Amino acid sequence: MKERTLSIVKPDAMKNGSMGAIIDRLQKSGFSIVAAKMTRLSKAQAEAFYAVHKERPFFKSLTEFMCSGPVMVMILEAEEAISRYRAVMGATNPAEAEAGTLRKDFATDKEKNAVHGSDAPETAAYEMGFFFTPYELIALG
Ligand code: CMP
Repeated sequence: MKERTLSIVKPDAMKNGSMGAIIDRLQKSGFSIVAAKMTRLSKAQAEAFYAVHKERPFFKSLTEFMCSGPVMVMILEAEEAISRYRAVMGATNPAEAEAGTLRKDFATDKEKNAVHGSDAPETAAYEMGFFFTPYELIALG
């Protein structure tokens, strides 16, 4: 079944010029990019996006990092996009990520880990709606 998931190229990867290489990797891995926008999160947006982590010790640092520079937000479409994209990203901590994964190749540490991806259908729906209006999503068909 065709599925959609939210992808974010994070500020670390944007800053070091890896955005193009990451998008190339995504397209070569069979994902269609059905929506994209480059933006910069406010602190409030970063806190809202990561609200599920608000009790975690890394919340302040994570939300500061996520608004430290621009991000590229995309909706990816593929068969089983959510689990496939998570496999392409690799483990949260790049030190534990498998060879050939985005985080192994582009991330520096478990916070500045180059990319974000939704972890389940419900979070994908919420996260796509966080960045794209209902009209933009409807237009995708
Ligand atoms: P992401 O997939 O965007 O989801 C939550 C983010 O929190 C994660 O990637 C990392 O950027 C960050 N994160 C998760 N665990 C830790 C940790 N132990 N220390 C710092 N940051 C973390």
